[in-house]
Amino acid sequence: MKIIILFFSILAAVSANAQAVADTLCSTPPMGWNSWNCFHRDIDEDKIKEIADLMVSTGLRDAGYTYLNVDDCWQTGRDNSFRIVADEKKFPSGMKALADYVHARGLKFGIYSCAGTKTCAGRPGSRGYEYIDAATYAEWGVDFLKYDWCNNNGANAREAYYIMSDAIRQTGHPIVLSICEWGDNKPWEWGQGIGQMWRISPDIVAVCEGDNYWGGASIFSIIDRMAPLWPYSGPGNWNDPDMLQVGNGDLTYDENVMHFSMWCMFSAPLIFGYDLRSADPKILEILTNREAIAIDQDRLGKQAMMFERTGKYHETWVKELADGGAALCFLNKDDKEWVFDYHFWGFDNIGMDCTGNLYTVRDIWKHKNIGDTKDRYRFKVPAHGVIMLRLTPAE
Ligand code: GAL
Repeated sequence: MKIIILFFSILAAVSANAQAVADTLCSTPPMGWNSWNCFHRDIDEDKIKEIADLMVSTGLRDAGYTYLNVDDCWQTGRDNSFRIVADEKKFPSGMKALADYVHARGLKFGIYSCAGTKTCAGRPGSRGYEYIDAATYAEWGVDFLKYDWCNNNGANAREAYYIMSDAIRQTGHPIVLSICEWGDNKPWEWGQGIGQMWRISPDIVAVCEGDNYWGGASIFSIIDRMAPLWPYSGPGNWNDPDMLQVGNGDLTYDENVMHFSMWCMFSAPLIFGYDLRSADPKILEILTNREAIAIDQDRLGKQAMMFERTGKYHETWVKELADGGAALCFLNKDDKEWVFDYHFWGFDNIGMDCTGNLYTVRDIWKHKNIGDTKDRYRFKVPAHGVIMLRLTPAE
């Protein structure tokens, strides 16, 4: 009898410990850099090392971007023991050495694989090798795994992702599992307890693809897809509207600000893919706006809700914050400026009692207090842009 009790208490302690690890992983949305959006298949260890150095010298690491993630095309095959092998030409020092380099700069190291037999770029996937791969990643000191969904041969998504999450758990090494099945099988309904974040959409695009394509369209369509998913996001479990395209493609300054602001409103993982080797200070300024980042990283972990849509193009988004205040975003999807008069009184405007309570109003991009909720405002929101405000309970 005693033995049985002891067995169950050990089991309870082990699972409580596993739960504690799961809870502390990504209690706020992970932040970092990923190679795909700027380099695609063209990656090598020198580039990644350069980016690691730049993450530190540009202040991005200190602004919170701690993960440095290598996406598809680092792997070529398997050795005689079925262990995954890195491309010897592009990563001659191996992934362990790269992980060490990244860790030495106070960053965390992320890697990519796929639940199918091959990755989306045709490299070896993890199907059937999940436990060997997870153990290898743990040995290398990997902190983050983006796990894709190409070439899955009709597998059940929940099962496929569960296997990798179990493989990771068995290593005892904390690795964030980023579920990348593009929202095909509603991962927000089953991803909790399996991974810490899940993609909700096809790939974000921010390049000019032919004459008729504008990159921002992809951003707007992802925003629409995010709207109903707010109940599924929270500490440790994040809806992932895909990696940031800030600075890439044909996005204007206002569009970049809009894109970044909305991702912060969503409590989205902030994984950007900008080539830091030729960085524009204006783009760095967007990425390091600490007031916007604080809204993303707010410990309540609420995803903004669309409070109102006026006509086809004008939306008001509200995100509740831990200090009893809220972040507010006026989003203008129109090709021309949106000008309107606004007051906060009453409950109807943003779902908060702004008659009984007073809040200060701060403009997140101007970095200044512009009044309080008793004042009247005339807002001018640029085409494809936002005005992002923070309402804080007045003293
Ligand atoms: C896609 C994924 C992209 C990128 C690419 C690599 O499926 O959504 O973010 O990882 O595969 O091949």
